[in-house]
Amino acid sequence: MTNDPNEHNDPNTHPHGHNIDHDEAHAEITKWERRWLSLSALISLTFVAFIAYSLVVEGAHIAQGTERATPAQLLSQDMFVQPSVTELSPGNFQVSVVAQAYSFNPPEIRLPEGATATFFLTSRDVLHGFQIENTNVNVELIPGEVSSFQYTFDRPGEYRVVCNEFCGVGHHNMMSRLVVVEADEYEEEVLLAQQRLEQAQASNEAWRVSGEAVYTSNCTGCHQANGQGIAGAFPPLAEHAVNLLRADGGRDYLANLQLYGLQGPIEVLGATYNGNMPAWKQLSDDDIADVLNYVLHTWGNDELLPDDFELYSPDEIAALRDQDLDADAMYARRQQLGLD
Ligand code: CUA
Repeated sequence: MTNDPNEHNDPNTHPHGHNIDHDEAHAEITKWERRWLSLSALISLTFVAFIAYSLVVEGAHIAQGTERATPAQLLSQDMFVQPSVTELSPGNFQVSVVAQAYSFNPPEIRLPEGATATFFLTSRDVLHGFQIENTNVNVELIPGEVSSFQYTFDRPGEYRVVCNEFCGVGHHNMMSRLVVVEADEYEEEVLLAQQRLEQAQASNEAWRVSGEAVYTSNCTGCHQANGQGIAGAFPPLAEHAVNLLRADGGRDYLANLQLYGLQGPIEVLGATYNGNMPAWKQLSDDDIADVLNYVLHTWGNDELLPDDFELYSPDEIAALRDQDLDADAMYARRQQLGLD
């Protein structure tokens, strides 16, 4: 109080009275300070109580014991090269998922009612989220780490899976589905898929089934199931894929596109697209050949194919690997294709 500059300069203040006023003001301030401190403490305690409640009653748990390695090391593991649902023993499933901007692979997970699934998840590029609606599953997917958890799906139905970490311009499109079907129905589906594969193999058209699977897992996020792409970002493959194939040097270009990606704004069928095609080197020669053949025979593309078209072969893809090419070099090549 002796520091108060008004104490001796204010002629209207009696020195003793002034001191009493000040003490009262001080007491008032102290009272409010106590109130605010108690309120802050109460808020913190409320949060602690909520967390404790969710851990004990709702069965939430904090993820721990995650594996860590370079993203390339992780992604080279079998379960992430071909992310999938595998039945380990009756009722027990392993589900592996790779997230990338802006899709989850696989885009749909199907499980039978009552299945206990152990999930292994990682990200190919940036931080993504993996939240299954109507469950308490909500994990972060971090490049170079594997998030793992177990969940038992007792209620049949369709669950949306969403990314809840802002990961870029396509974040709001980053979604997938988890479908829990009745046990009988599930068995039937597995059987049907097997039959379909055997039939395709018998008729020498295994590439149709495999190509569709590769496409569904890796390409639908951007180019969509109907091959129409996303306006402004990802071009349609219907019609356009055949136009690329028919261009001068187009056959190799189309295969290289899968191996090296493409970066830069492009014009397709009169519209501009400025998404980024990642390189898909990690896919096998068979997978790349199959998916190219699938794309060239779907959405009416087969009608547009040249009569002398021959299927891409795995050997053809293998021969194109290890070139000194990248997404920018591919962009330069694209300019030379003579497309309009
Ligand atoms: Cu991935 Cu948002």
